Amino acid sequence: DPASTSPVSREALIVVSNRLPFVLKKNEEGHLIRKSSAGGLVTAVAPVVAQCKGLWVGWPGIFLESGEKEPIIPESEDGNCTPTAGLLSKQIVPVFMEKDQFGQFYNGCCNGTFWPLFHSMPDRAIFFSEHWKAYVEVNQFFADKAMEAVDSLVQQNKDVLPLVWVHDYHLTLAAALIRKQAAEKGIRIKLGFFLHIPFPPWDIFRLLPWANQVLEGLLGCDMVGFHIEDYCLNFLDCCQRQLDYRVDKKNFTVEHEGRKISVRPLPIGIPFDKFTQMAEEAPRVVRESREKIILGVDRLDYTKGLVHRLRAYENLLTKHPEYIEKVIFLQISVPSRTDVKEYQDLKEEMDQVVGKINGQFSTANWSPIRYIYGSISQAELAAFYRDAAVCVVTPLRDGMNLVAKEFVACQIEDPGVLILSPFAGAGEMMHEALIVNPYEVDLAAEMIHRALSMPLDERQVRMTHLRKREKINDVNAWTANFLKAMDSSLLGIAAAVCR
Ligand code: G6P
Repeated sequence: DPASTSPVSREALIVVSNRLPFVLKKNEEGHLIRKSSAGGLVTAVAPVVAQCKGLWVGWPGIFLESGEKEPIIPESEDGNCTPTAGLLSKQIVPVFMEKDQFGQFYNGCCNGTFWPLFHSMPDRAIFFSEHWKAYVEVNQFFADKAMEAVDSLVQQNKDVLPLVWVHDYHLTLAAALIRKQAAEKGIRIKLGFFLHIPFPPWDIFRLLPWANQVLEGLLGCDMVGFHIEDYCLNFLDCCQRQLDYRVDKKNFTVEHEGRKISVRPLPIGIPFDKFTQMAEEAPRVVRESREKIILGVDRLDYTKGLVHRLRAYENLLTKHPEYIEKVIFLQISVPSRTDVKEYQDLKEEMDQVVGKINGQFSTANWSPIRYIYGSISQAELAAFYRDAAVCVVTPLRDGMNLVAKEFVACQIEDPGVLILSPFAGAGEMMHEALIVNPYEVDLAAEMIHRALSMPLDERQVRMTHLRKREKINDVNAWTANFLKAMDSSLLGIAAAVCR
């Protein structure tokens, strides 16, 4: 065990996130089973938690009936002996919430307020004090659970140094609450935070009635991480202008309560090799056809620019009728946050726009758009990525966007072309993509035309560079960079388990 021989005390990682790395579901016999999430975060972080004998605190995706006892977390997936990414049930700290309170917290505050505001879409944001009240309570509840986790590790080994890693906009208040409790108990811990969505400019952020509380919650950490430098600068600016705190914009630090908090850009990556391998192994899912595939893959979310994208395609078919019966737009929209009105409205709008374009351009043997509203398996997804001629990733705003990276990882033969929005964090680094402003619909149409007609050698040069960068900066590198930014002795473990 490399950590136990390290000169500093043995660190153990406690991850705190809204969702656990799996959801609990009842099978046909009524037994609880785990259904693991396939996300890159889980692939990269869970093995580190498993190896350092750490803990994961989060919501298991189910509600208890009133008076129902908390269930025992099952050890493994259905029909599979291996626990999710090596995490044993004793390493899971489930946070059960009441359905009502969770609704106010998740649909109301997280997805009704934070999500649109942090994506710089204030007109879509709602501000209700009862949602905020639930947000405060749930953050306190998560903080209490995280503190139980800290206590249990310290009780097992008084020399352990808990490294608590809080994730995302659901839990912006938790860090300060955990720090307070640890201080009261005289327990030394390290605290880090990572935001998976953009951090907006002060001008937008200040619209939040609870802006001060959020900043102070985050400043409970030793280090606050964002995807890109712009978000770091926005955060620093907010600390300075909203709270009048001393900020160092050269060294990216904020002073608060006699501590210096560091702020770091930590761009997330994907499990690159895993996607490449899936692309190598996946059977063809799209029938052999004359048509070139233009692919879009997104959660059905208004930040993704889906309607703008379809308008651009409509524009392409109008201005370049030579593409009729020669291309197909395959849009996969994964249902998301279906209890929130904005998402229900978008579903309606998409159904209408898809119907209109298909009605206008279809011929006897061909329809311009194939629209899937549903989830697909990772293997199928890898096949779609591999077989697409063009992938259109044109969010109006996006923290990073992993679809762009997954597409690149799957370009193993006859490389396709990536069209990317500059308003995604990924647009900051993936320079060899065709970058287009999604609001400029006619230019976006011309960009699709350019992508469809790009010669092989140019496609190869662009894709080679894109692949090289994403392979190096994969999700394991991201985990390692977080641990480095936390000055953590777990770096050795991460290097050993993730390579
Ligand atoms: C974004 C957020 C994640 C969230 C995911 C899916 O990527 O940053 O924290 O888990 O969307 O959304 P959901 O609301 O289903 O968790």
